[in-house]
Amino acid sequence: MFRFAHLTDPHVGPLPRPALRHLLGKRITGYVNWRRGRREAHDMDLLAALVRDLREQAPDHIVCTGDVCNLGLASEWPSSRLFLDGLGSHDTVSFVPGNHDAYVPGSLEGLLEAVDPFAVGDEPGLTRFPFVRRRGPVAFIGLSSAIPTAPFVASGRLGRTQTKHAEACLAALAEEPLLRVVLIHHPPHVGGAPTGRNLVDAHRFEAMIARVGADLIIHGHNHVGSVSFLEGPHGPVPVVGAPSASDRGGALTHPAGYHLFRVHDEEGRFRISAELRGLDAEGVFGSQGAIDISGNTAHRRVAGHVRG
Ligand SMILES: [Fe+2]
Ligand SMILES: [Fe+2]
Repeated sequence: MFRFAHLTDPHVGPLPRPALRHLLGKRITGYVNWRRGRREAHDMDLLAALVRDLREQAPDHIVCTGDVCNLGLASEWPSSRLFLDGLGSHDTVSFVPGNHDAYVPGSLEGLLEAVDPFAVGDEPGLTRFPFVRRRGPVAFIGLSSAIPTAPFVASGRLGRTQTKHAEACLAALAEEPLLRVVLIHHPPHVGGAPTGRNLVDAHRFEAMIARVGADLIIHGHNHVGSVSFLEGPHGPVPVVGAPSASDRGGALTHPAGYHLFRVHDEEGRFRISAELRGLDAEGVFGSQGAIDISGNTAHRRVAGHVRG
C-alpha cells in the first residue's frame, strides 16, 4: 500500500535576528507581529515531535505545502533546506511555497534556489510550476500560490498561465492509471479564507477543476484541519487542509498535526483514506483518528482562518 504524508506551515525557527537594514517595509510589521505572537504560537519542540512521528510512520512520500519561512529572510533559507533534508531525500519529499516564503520581492526566488531539488518536476519544464512528480500510484501536481503582498495581506494567486498549464497537466494525467493529487499552499476554493488571506483567483481554479477534475487537493495556510469539496466532472473532489506542523493551538488554530494518506488498490480501482496524526491529551504524538474525505457525508467547511 502506498502512503504519503502531508505537513504544512512549519514556520521553521528560531528566527534569526534580522539586520536592521532588512527590516524595511513589510518586514517591520511582520517582525513585530512575529515577536508578538507567532514566535509563541510556533513551537520547534512540537515540530521535532511531529517529525519523529513522521519518521516512525515511514511514508513512501512526504509533501510540505509551504510557509517554511517566517519573513522570507536570506538567513532563513539554509534552515528551510535543513528542515526539508531532515524529512528525507528530495526524491521522497515534495515542496510548494507559501506566502511567508514569498514575503517580499526576492524571497521566493532565494528560497527556491536553496530548496530547488524538492520543488522540481520529474521532467524539466519551461516554468517551475506546475511541476509533476510521479510516485507509485500517485501523480503530485505542485502549484505555487505564493506572491509578495502588501503589509497585513496574506493572499495568494495562481495566475492565468499557471492555471492553464495545470489544466493541461491534469487533463493529460487523467489518461494515465494514476491518482492526481494537487499541492497548493492557499485553500483554493472560494471562501476558503477571508479576503486579504485568500486565493484571489479561486474562481478560476474552481472552474478548472470543474472541467478536468482531480482526485485530491491538499493545502495549508489556515493552520486548521479542514475538509471541503469542489465539483469535478465525475463527482466531488476532496479539498483537505492540514493544521500547521508547529502550532501550539489557539482559539482559531488547531494544535500541530499532519495528515497521513493511504492509497488502497481495490480490484484495480484506487481509493484514498486519510488519518490525522497529532497530539493526544497527554501531549504524545499519535493517531487522532480517520478523516472522512469520501464526500458521502454533509460537507464540512471549517471557519477560523487567522494566521496564514
Ligand atoms: Fe502559515
Ligand atoms: Fe500561509
